Amino acid sequence: MEKLKHFLKTTAAGRILLIPYRFWFGAHYVIPTFKQLLHWTFTSREIDNFTYDLTALNRQYLIAFVATVTHQPVGDVQRYIDEIVHDQALHDHIVRFTQQAPERYIADSTAKYSRRIGWYAFVRAMKPKIVVETGTNKGLGSCIIAAALKRNAHDGAPGYLYTTDIDPVAGYLLQLPYSEYAKILYGDSIASLNTLSQTIDLFINDSDHSQEYELREYETVQAKLSPRAIILGDNVHCSSKLWEFSQRTKRAFLFFQEQPLHHWYAGAGIGVSYHL
Ligand SMILES: C[S@@+](CC[C@H](N)C(=O)[O-])C[C@H]1O[C@@H](n2cnc3c(N)ncnc32)[C@H](O)[C@@H]1O
Repeated sequence: MEKLKHFLKTTAAGRILLIPYRFWFGAHYVIPTFKQLLHWTFTSREIDNFTYDLTALNRQYLIAFVATVTHQPVGDVQRYIDEIVHDQALHDHIVRFTQQAPERYIADSTAKYSRRIGWYAFVRAMKPKIVVETGTNKGLGSCIIAAALKRNAHDGAPGYLYTTDIDPVAGYLLQLPYSEYAKILYGDSIASLNTLSQTIDLFINDSDHSQEYELREYETVQAKLSPRAIILGDNVHCSSKLWEFSQRTKRAFLFFQEQPLHHWYAGAGIGVSYHL
């Protein structure tokens, strides 16, 4: 056996003979993903902005991530994540309005929040007065943020969300009671951000995902950020702009990578820019 191993490792013939072994080694990683892709193709309706849960370990890492950035005890952040994961009213709201929407043929009538549970935990931990999310889409993130603001208000720390979208019919999920805590600003995001006079405590970039536009959003809100403001970037798994912006403005930067549960998608993440 040792002689065979030596032969495979040290000869050109060994290099050729190892090709099937190497193929099967890699295939063990790729085949489960391919099976998930096949299953998803016939069971999901989504065409973009995919939704899924996070693996249990990934969720724990997200809790540690939020706790580190917000300087909150891990136990408190764990409680916030438990809150959103077990929020039956929000779950039922998402399912009901998805099933009623004209766009229901390209949306799944399930409530899976992926990295947005991290957005929820940031809002609960920070108790921001003003949150801005660019890119409303269906309004999934907006409802989740509004659910956190609703709880904050109940705890005596009210806040409000402005969410922007260029699509005039965006935001079908953002209905009462969540719409009480949020307003959709329709039109180009940069134009909407320019009209905002409020100081922003939490800014979430999730609109036009070109790197140039993403950077323009950060530059547009820069002077409107409160001293404790946190920026979350939804494009950071494929764009360096938030990291570069953080370097230039002397802000700390971290990135959390998602691990989707039972999904072919490799996951996006949460980039965070903040003052230490
Ligand atoms: C990735 S989706 C947002 C997802 C949403 N934040 C969520 O939590 O599900 C991006 C959205 O940005 C919007 N968008 C694209 N370009 C925009 C622009 N220049 N200004 C405002 N919204 C824009 C699109 O219409 C789309 O609905």
